[in-house]
Amino acid sequence: MHVTLRQLDVFDAVARHLSYTRAAEELHLSQPAVSMQIKQLEESTGIPLFEQLGKRIYLTVAGSELHRYARIIRQQLGEAEAVLEDLKGLRRGRLSVGVASTANNFAARLLARFVEDMEGVSFSLDVTNRETLLRQLENNERDLVIMGRPPKDADLDESAFMANPLVMIAPKGHPLAARQSIPLKELDGETFVVRECGSGTRIAVENLFDKCGVSLSTRLEMSTNEAIKQAVEAGLGLGVASMHTLGLELGSERLSVLNVEGFPIRRHWYVVHRKGKRLSPLAAAFKAFVLKEAGVFCGLLEASGRNGEPDRSWCGDCQQRCEI
Ligand code: PGA
Repeated sequence: MHVTLRQLDVFDAVARHLSYTRAAEELHLSQPAVSMQIKQLEESTGIPLFEQLGKRIYLTVAGSELHRYARIIRQQLGEAEAVLEDLKGLRRGRLSVGVASTANNFAARLLARFVEDMEGVSFSLDVTNRETLLRQLENNERDLVIMGRPPKDADLDESAFMANPLVMIAPKGHPLAARQSIPLKELDGETFVVRECGSGTRIAVENLFDKCGVSLSTRLEMSTNEAIKQAVEAGLGLGVASMHTLGLELGSERLSVLNVEGFPIRRHWYVVHRKGKRLSPLAAAFKAFVLKEAGVFCGLLEASGRNGEPDRSWCGDCQQRCEI
C-alpha cells in the first residue's frame, strides 16, 4: 500500500465533512482535485473508502478503519513535531557530561543550578579520571567534559573557566607545617600518597617533581581525593590535592597546606568537547553557563577587589607560564 500524507489529509477532511465540496473548501483545493486524491487512495488501498447513497456519501467499513488510523498518524506526527521543536530549545533533551574526579565537588552544584526549572530535561554526570575522559572525548561519548587542560595534539575545543590550584598537604601538627618556602629538593625520599595513574593531579605532580629532579615514590596510590585526604590525615604520608577538595578539612583543621616551593601547582579547569562537534542547544547553554557562572558561583576565583569582579588574568599569561 503506497499512501502519501497528503492523501491521508485529504481523506481525513472528506471523512470529517462527508462532503467533497466542504473538504475542498477547507483545504483550498478544487473539488476535482479532492476527488482525484480519494480515487488514487482507493486505488492504492485496493478497497472502496466511501459509498454514495442518493446525494450523500458515507464511509465504508474500510473507510472508517482507515480514518481511525489517519487520525492516529496525524496526531503522532504532531507530537513528533512538538518534540523536535522542544529539542531546538531547552525544554527537552538529555545532557551527558563527563567530569574529572577532582572537579566533582563543584560540578554537581553547577549542574544542579543549571537544571533548576528544566523538568523535561535529563542529565547524566559521569565522574572519572583524566585518562578515561580523554577516551570518552575520542569516542564522542559525552556532550561536554570538565577536566584539566587536555593534550595540545588532541583534536579538542577547550575553554578555560577557573583556576585549580594544587597544594601539598600534611596532617595537622606536622613539623613541616610551621616552615616557609620549603625547597622541593628537601622532600626527596619523603613518603607521598599519590593519585592513580591516569589522574590529571598525578600527572601534574609527576611533571613538577621531574622538572625539579626530585624523586616521587608511587608506592602509596589511591584512586580518590577522599582516600588521599584520609590517608594523609592518618599520617601515611604527604599528599597533593586540589584546593577545591579541601574546604572541610582545612576548616576543621584536620590537614595543613605546606608552603613548598613550586606550589601551588597552577592548573585550570576547562570545558572541553571534540572540535567540530555540533553541540545540542542544551549542551551549548550548559557550556555558556559554565564559562560565565562557574568562577563566580563556586566562589573560587581570586577576587580582584575591583567591583567584586572575578580576576581572569590567569587565563592568558599565567596559564602559559605555570600550567604543568
Ligand atoms: P583528576 O583531575 O583526573 O586528578 O581528578 C583532573 C585534572 O586535574 O586534570
